[in-house]
Formats: sequence, structure tokens, C-alpha cells
Amino acid sequence: MRKQVIIGNWKMFKTNSEAKQFMEQAEKGFKTRPDLIAGVAVSATLLNTVKTNSKNLIVSAQNVHFEKSGAFTGEVSIPMLKDININYSLVGHSERREYFNDTDAVINKKVKALLEANMTPVLCCGESLETFEKGKTIEFVKSQLVADFAGVSKEDAVKVIVAYEPIWAIGTGKVATPEIAQNVCKGVRDIIADLYDQATADQVVIQYGGSVKPDNVKQILSQPDIDGALVGGASLEVASFLALLV
Ligand code: PGA
Repeated sequence: MRKQVIIGNWKMFKTNSEAKQFMEQAEKGFKTRPDLIAGVAVSATLLNTVKTNSKNLIVSAQNVHFEKSGAFTGEVSIPMLKDININYSLVGHSERREYFNDTDAVINKKVKALLEANMTPVLCCGESLETFEKGKTIEFVKSQLVADFAGVSKEDAVKVIVAYEPIWAIGTGKVATPEIAQNVCKGVRDIIADLYDQATADQVVIQYGGSVKPDNVKQILSQPDIDGALVGGASLEVASFLALLV
């Protein structure tokens, strides 16, 4: 049985004092369930604070470098994350692909480096509005996933969380209909089945992301191939974040 995984992506928001306050309140309000993994993906400066103040919520980085160390000014390495007990990182969020030159080749190196370190990559994929309107979503997402999973073994592939986030739905308030989201998440599962096999694909957790809010989360999560959500805006306030964990 796949678990449900709901992660708040704080993007470049919050100071340490705000993050600490959020975690204290969120941990108090979080009702744990054995089938649910929930948590937040935060900026590098907040990781230690959020981790220290977490109990049942998981803590994820938003990005990581694939090299263990080196002359990479401004970057954060996997050993640095492991040092403060961080076991998850987002990889290839569309904002990183667009503004920070995270190509599929780079993303593939990050996915492999995280898996090698026994960490969980939350691998983001998704198409632009133009690609969506041309009806080429699945073809495009396939090109991303084929490149991003290159050289990843079947045993490791099941440990990857895939987040399907149509770029046109991120931060726009335009959520994909549950039918569209289900259709593409099923498409993602089929792509993984083609790359590996159905049993592998059936184990992979697939999230939907893009304008998920407390009032639409239930409908999205009730789709058979959607196992969770990656949530930006609606994860910034404690009440709204907790309302996503239904
Ligand atoms: P949003 O962001 O929920 O604010 O649309 C989602 C994301 O970028 O992960």
C-alpha cells in the first residue's frame, strides 16, 4: 500500500522565528495517521530550526548539490543535510528548472546522489501552458522522467516520490481539474511501468501540485493515482497547512 505524502513547499518564505512558531503550532495540531507522511520543504537557513522543532512532521530541503563538497558557492551538499538529519529534498521544481538552470541532466545527478545517500528525492515534473494547450503533456513529462530516472535501479526507483506539477497551475489559482491531474498522474505511473515494470510503478508515490488548497485537496487526493500533494501558498499558514491533512 502506498502512503499518502503531503509536503508544504515554503519556497523563499519565512524567517527562523516564523518557522519555529509554525512548527510548534503545527506539531500541536497534527493528528498522525499511520498511512500519512506530512511535512514541509524549507529554505536552507531554516532547515536546522525546523528539524529541531519537528516531531512527527518530516522536513525536506528544497534543493541540493550533487557533489559531496567542492567549489560551488551558494550551494548545499548532501553531507551537510545529513549532518542535521534531513532525509528528503525536492529536486527539479519548475522554478529551479526555469531560473537556476536545473536541466534534466543535473536533476538526474541529484536524484542519483540522494538515493546513494539513502535520502528521498521528491522529483518534480510538469509542463508549461503552451505544452498543455498543444496536448503534449504526457510526451513532455515522459521526456523529463526518462532523463531524470536514467541509471536509477528498480530498487531505488520505488524510493523516489514524483510530484506532477503543471507549471500553469503553480501559484496561479488555476488548479488542474481532478480528471486532468488523475490522467497525468496515471500517465506518470505508466511511464515508470515502461521504464521498469508495473510492480515498481505501483509502489511509487505520485503527488499532484499546483494551487492545491484546503477546499480542493480532498477531491484531488481521492483520485486513484494521486497519492499526495506538494503545496506552496496554502502551506504557509498553520491552519491552512493542517486543513490539507485530511
Ligand atoms: P502552489 O505551489 O501550491 O502555490 O501553486 C505549488 C508548488 O510550487 O509546489
